[in-house]
Amino acid sequence: MEKIIDENKQGEALVLEQKDTNKRKLFIESYGCSMNFSDSEIVASIMANQGFNTTQKLEEADLVLVNTCSIRDKAEQTVRKRLEKYNAVKRDLNPKMKVGVLGCMAERLKTKFLEEEKIVDLVVGPDAYKDLPNLLAEVDEGRDAINVILSKEETYGDISPVRLNTNGVTAFVSITRGCDNMCTFCVVPFTRGRERSRDPQSILEEVNDLWNRGYKEITLLGQNVDSYLWYGGGLKKDFEKASDMQKATAVNFSNLLEICAKAQPKMRIRFSTSNPQDLTLDVIETMAKFDNICNHIHLPVQSGSNRVLKAMNRLHTREEYFELIDNIRRIIPNCAISQDMIVGFPTETEEDFQDTVSLMEYVKYNFGYMFTYSERPGTMAGRNMEDDVPEETKKRRLQDIVDLQRIHSEIRTKEHLNTVVEVLIEKESKKSAEQWSGRTSQNIVCVFPKAHYNIGDFVNVKVTDCTSATLIGEASPLIPEGETAE
Ligand code: SAH
Ligand code: F3S
Repeated sequence: MEKIIDENKQGEALVLEQKDTNKRKLFIESYGCSMNFSDSEIVASIMANQGFNTTQKLEEADLVLVNTCSIRDKAEQTVRKRLEKYNAVKRDLNPKMKVGVLGCMAERLKTKFLEEEKIVDLVVGPDAYKDLPNLLAEVDEGRDAINVILSKEETYGDISPVRLNTNGVTAFVSITRGCDNMCTFCVVPFTRGRERSRDPQSILEEVNDLWNRGYKEITLLGQNVDSYLWYGGGLKKDFEKASDMQKATAVNFSNLLEICAKAQPKMRIRFSTSNPQDLTLDVIETMAKFDNICNHIHLPVQSGSNRVLKAMNRLHTREEYFELIDNIRRIIPNCAISQDMIVGFPTETEEDFQDTVSLMEYVKYNFGYMFTYSERPGTMAGRNMEDDVPEETKKRRLQDIVDLQRIHSEIRTKEHLNTVVEVLIEKESKKSAEQWSGRTSQNIVCVFPKAHYNIGDFVNVKVTDCTSATLIGEASPLIPEGETAE
């Protein structure tokens, strides 16, 4: 593999791995969660072995693959719009182009895609990417091809991802696939199947390889990372049937964090996503023990009302969530916490909504992602509950919590004024070619003058100003608060 440094329109360096011998061109794009972006890197790796190099130009692609998201109706509409665009390009500029749909929409809609969208030649679910070479052979012979079989074992642990659109500094490492939680609103358990964990040895090899190639930060990815459990393979739910030996040597998420943190003590480690019901004290204590595990937990709660949490099949109460927050703050006092929230879940009353508001007031999250409920066909809520909160009410509630979150973000960001923070430089600031942009351990964006620093450097920055979401500062010889000089 040869490395080609490309310059895109924004002037950011894109490092693409290409094989000289590859003649066909793959245009691949991803929508939705980080897992989809990570999966696309696995797909690019499989396709590189089939003679495809990636391209940024749709008009010159032999094959277009779109990795899709089904989480909300809007996400699906976005993909439908993209298919229209491919259709136009194929008609006007590139008649030989083939189009494949990957990911959650492929899994949810299956053959319907081939019927509804004439442009689509190939449909591949999230567990079937290793079948792409066979499916492609079908497409090359002029037939539509589909594989949407979900697996109980596939983790793609043996595939070394091709890093796409990389800054060369941060990378995703997937550690679990699927989800067993069955939140009643969520389509993921249906599109991504049962939860399974990846062999820690292959995770470790990937982390070491990334470090050796100059990466400085990894994010361990899973729908529900705290539920990670490796006992030699097999589904989480079958752990009880494992042998005594397997149980004794099992690796849980806290163990995995420790293994990664020790193997590469200078590599920053993040993880996402944590479900409150599975986040244990061990994990919080391990985070506190290792400086290189970042002080940030993404801890979606979805609602502050006990009644709604129950209807969502979130297996904890508001009070248990507060206890968890208190424990995080006690063990890691400067830990950033972020949220996902849904408003307008079926039957949500004004009182339920006020519980969400008061929960947010209690936690004062650093940042969050907020959504109006979108009914998903086939889910428990979709089948059994009427989507009965009027659209205007949903929108008003959403605006209320978005406004509240902005106030909280500002409070949290201001806490860093006049302190020194450690920033990992990722890229040039969008606003100024004289400034670098990076993130702190707490995942807050920080910009400061470039001076003699480079992308990939860790720099101590004195924070002199801020907006609600960004720290503004200058490089400082001082050591960040809460850390000791070695
Ligand atoms: N555990 C996952 C959650 C995936 S979905 C993860 O890795 O992030 C991301 C977020 O989308 C959820 O936390 C939830 O807030 C939101 N979401 C999921 N299903 C939804 C639906 N039907 N309507 C609106 N928002 C939804
Ligand atoms: Fe979805 Fe709940 Fe799993 S939000 S991804 S079912 S933890």
